[in-house]
Amino acid sequence: MIPERLSVLHSWCVQADWNAPTIVGGEGAWFWDSNGRRYLDMSSLAESMNLGHQHPALVRAIRDQAAKLCFVSAAWGAEPRARLAELLLEKSGFEGGRVFFTLGGADANEHAVKFARQASAKPHGWIITRDRSYHGASYGAMALSGDARTRCQIDPQDMRAVHVPPPYAYRCPFGSTSEAECGEQSSRHIGRVIDEYGPAEVAAVLMEPNAGTNGIIAPDNHWPLLCEETRRREVLLIADEVMSGFGRCGEWFAWQRHGEAGRPDLMSLAKGLTGSHLPLAAVVLSHGVAARIEHEMLMTGLTYCGHPLSCAAGVAAVEAYEDERLIERSRVLGAQLINALRAIRERVDIIGDVRGGHGLFAVVELVRDRTTREPVSAWPQSHPSLSTFVSRAREEGVSFATRGNLIILAPPLVIEEEDLMDALALMERLLNELEWS
Ligand SMILES: Cc1ncc(COP(=O)(O)O)c(C=O)c1O
Repeated sequence: MIPERLSVLHSWCVQADWNAPTIVGGEGAWFWDSNGRRYLDMSSLAESMNLGHQHPALVRAIRDQAAKLCFVSAAWGAEPRARLAELLLEKSGFEGGRVFFTLGGADANEHAVKFARQASAKPHGWIITRDRSYHGASYGAMALSGDARTRCQIDPQDMRAVHVPPPYAYRCPFGSTSEAECGEQSSRHIGRVIDEYGPAEVAAVLMEPNAGTNGIIAPDNHWPLLCEETRRREVLLIADEVMSGFGRCGEWFAWQRHGEAGRPDLMSLAKGLTGSHLPLAAVVLSHGVAARIEHEMLMTGLTYCGHPLSCAAGVAAVEAYEDERLIERSRVLGAQLINALRAIRERVDIIGDVRGGHGLFAVVELVRDRTTREPVSAWPQSHPSLSTFVSRAREEGVSFATRGNLIILAPPLVIEEEDLMDALALMERLLNELEWS
C-alpha cells in the first residue's frame, strides 16, 4: 500500500514535509491514532467538530438515513432537507426566509454573494470584506478573503472585493487606544468606504461577527455599529458564521449576542452545522432578501445541494446542541477558559494578549515584548518554537492549533472541564519551557 504521505495532495503544507499520524477513532473531545496514542482535541479539528468525535446521535441519524434513502436531487423534495431548513430559520429567527444548501464554507460564501447581488439588483456590485479574514479556498472565496495565503493566488478585484482594515484593537490600524474606540472607528470606516464607492454600487459587506483564526478580532461594539452603517445605506450585510456558529461563540450564531441590533441580512454556515460528521454548508436568507428574488430565476445549483445524508446529520446536530444544552455549556466553559487564560498571562511573559470570552473560543497572542507588542514572528509566519510546542503537546496527548503568533483554543463543546484545565496547564508549562529568542 502506498503511504498517504506519498499518495495524497495535502492542504496548506509543503508536500514533502507532511508526515502526520493516521487517526482511526474518536469519542467526545478525544481521538486516537493507529499506534493507539490518544489526543485531547483542543481545536475541534479545524474548529468544526463542535459536538465532539463520533457523536452517537449523528452516527445513528446518518446510518438510518442511508438505509432509507441516500440521494435526492434538488429538483425533488427531501424530508431531511426541509426539516433542517425549518430548524435553521427557527434558530436564527429568520422565519419567512429561505435556506440554500452547499457543500462547504467557501461555496456558501460565494453563494451568499450571488444572492446578495441578485437581491439588490447589483449583479456586479462591490463586496466589502476585511483584511485578516478568511472565507474559503475556492477562487471566489479566496478573492473575498483578506489573507496572505489567498491574496497571492487571486486579485480581489477579480471578484470586485474591497478590503478594509480589521477592528484589531490590540494593534489598532486606526491608532485608537481602546477596544471600543477601535470597534467604532473601524465600523465607521466601512460606512465611509461604502459612501466612497457609492451605496448604489456596493452589493454587500461580508464579515465574520466573531473572527476567527485570524485572532478573535471582535470588539463588542463593532458588529452592531456595522449593522447600523449598512442598514442606513441599504447595503446588505452577510455574516460569515462558518466558524463562529453553532455554539462556538456561546450562541447559536455569534451575531445573536447583540440581539436584533446585530441581525444580518444573510448568513453562511458550515462546520458546526453537522459538527463535521458530513460535509454540509448553508446560506440563510432573511425574509426580506428571499422575497426580493422569489419570482426570479435562481441561476445556480449544485448536484449535492441539500444532500439527504448530510441534512439528516444536520437535523441530528441541531437536536443534539439543544438536548445536551451545548450552547449554554459553551458559554459557561468559555467564561472559565478566558479567566484561566488571563491568569496564565500573568505568569507567562511571552503571552502579550488573550482574547475570547464568548463561548469556547479563545486565542493567545505571543509577543517578544509586552510593551512594544512585537510579535514572536512576523504575521503570518510562525515561530519555530510554536511548531515544537505543537509536537511536544502531541507527545503529551494534546492536539493544539496554531497560526502565525497565535494559539487557537476551540475545543469541542462537550469537553470535560478537567481536561480543558489540564490542557491549559500543559500549554503554560510548554510556553515557559520553550526558547523564544
Ligand atoms: C470564517 C470561515 N469562512 C469560511 C471558511 C471556509 O470553509 P470551508 O473550508 O468549509 O470551505 C472557513 C474555514 O475555516 C472559515 O473559518
